[in-house]
This record gives sequence, structure tokens and C-alpha cells, in this order.
Amino acid sequence: MFFNKKNKNEIDLTRLPQHIGVIMDGNGRWARRRGLPRSAGHSAGADALKKIITEANNLGVKYITVYAFSTENWKRPKEEVDYLMSLLLDYLRNAEKTLAGENVVIRAIGSRKELSQEIRDQIIKTEEFTKNNTGIVMNIALNYGAREEITNAVREICEDVKNGKTDIDSITDKMVENHLYTKGQPDVDLLIRTSGEQRLSNFMLWQVSYAEMWFTNKLWPDFKPKHLRQAIYDFQNRGRRFGGV
Ligand code: IPE
Ligand code: IPE
Ligand code: MG
Repeated sequence: MFFNKKNKNEIDLTRLPQHIGVIMDGNGRWARRRGLPRSAGHSAGADALKKIITEANNLGVKYITVYAFSTENWKRPKEEVDYLMSLLLDYLRNAEKTLAGENVVIRAIGSRKELSQEIRDQIIKTEEFTKNNTGIVMNIALNYGAREEITNAVREICEDVKNGKTDIDSITDKMVENHLYTKGQPDVDLLIRTSGEQRLSNFMLWQVSYAEMWFTNKLWPDFKPKHLRQAIYDFQNRGRRFGGV
């Protein structure tokens, strides 16, 4: 049973997940089922995303991270990669107006050096433009891979040890966290993946340690605000123990 706008009160707004992670999967299959090119699926996926961010922001969720392009997605045909990059550029440009108007803070997480100069410049502009907003923080995971993120953290900490800024015995999990892209943000407590796949695909391996996982067969372009509310409702009805009893 899914909730519509009327009974959105079924969600306890005082116990929202603090940080939602979303693996937006199934754009290609959505397009194929319609006899359309994969690019049409990605375009429909970008539209679905806007509505989900608006809904999460309106509910009062503080952080959302959406997986837009993984470090492994470069393996796709060049034509598809180029299309995804142009879509992301458009998304960042438009987000500067539309989502900023909704008070959303937009950040990109992932390795930037492999991205085009144009996208890197736009990321800086969009981040700058939205940084003083007070609504939801939206991390767009773009050329993101959790192994790259953790490896990078290890490298930076080793650098600090080498320069005498810290010593090996002082390394804590908090210190590792401070070298991740999500520094200063709470752990992901609800992880959503669409399209029926039940795997992490190198998404936020550190941050999802105690996340509740929520899977749906819905393909990403068909994922609606009511499905987000259902995921939050289910999250609130799970028993979380964090290793205790
Ligand atoms: C998710 O949809 C979007 C990206 C990975 C960029 P897919 O493109 O993976 O769609 P499927 O899994 O092939 O259906
Ligand atoms: C994960 O989806 C990456 C994004 C959603 C951006 P994929 O479609 O790339 O993952 P696999 O290949 O099915 O694991
Ligand atoms: Mg996929």
C-alpha cells in the first residue's frame, strides 16, 4: 500500500532519516521497455530526481545523496557517457535556478579530475550559488566510487603522518570520516535502490555501515514521491539495534 498526499501524516516527521542515499538504477531498462534509446531513460530519470528532491526537502529531510555516475560507469559506450555528462551539466545549470529557489544546497561528491573543465566549472558555480541555502543538502555523486574515496582518505592521512601532523596511534574512525567527501555529514541511515538490483555497486561503503536498505522493483524514472514516503514509513517501522540488544 502506498501513501498519497492525504495520508502523508502517517510519517512521523520527528523521526525522519537524517541522510537518505539513493542508487537511481533502471533508466536503461525503462527506455528499452518503451523501444526508446537509453538516453531517453536517463532524461526521464533526471525529471524523476527533481520531484524526489523537492519532496524530501518539503518533508524536512536534511541530507540526500544521489548516485548519478560511478567511477565504473566510464566503461559504458562513449555515446552514453557523453549523453550522461551533458545531462548532468544541464542538471547543475538548472538546479542553480530551480533547486536553489527551493533553498536546496547542492554539492558534488566524487573525483573531479576526470571530469571536463566545463562540468568542473559548473560544479563550483552551483556549489557557490547554493552554499548559504538552509534547506536539504543534496550530494550528487558524480564520478563517485567509495573505494576511491576511502583510498584517498588513506593517502591523505598517511601524508599527515609523514608530515608529523598526526601519528599512527592517533588514527581513529572519526579521523577517517573527516577525509571522506561527506565530511561533517551524518551517516546514511536509509539507503534506497530501484530497479530490483540488490547490491551497493561501490556506493558509500563507509557511510552505509548501519543504514536500513530499501529495495524496490520500480525503475528509477517511475520512482515517485509516494514511493519515497513509503520507504521512509518502512524505515520508521524497522528495529535498529546498532549491535546492541
Ligand atoms: C542508472 O540507470 C543510471 C546510471 C547508472 C547512470 P542504468 O543506466 O544503470 O539503467 P539500467 O540498469 O541499464 O536499466
Ligand atoms: C550504479 O548503477 C551506479 C548509478 C546508479 C549511478 P549501475 O547500473 O552502474 O550498477 P551495476 O553495474 O548494475 O552494479
Ligand atoms: Mg544499472
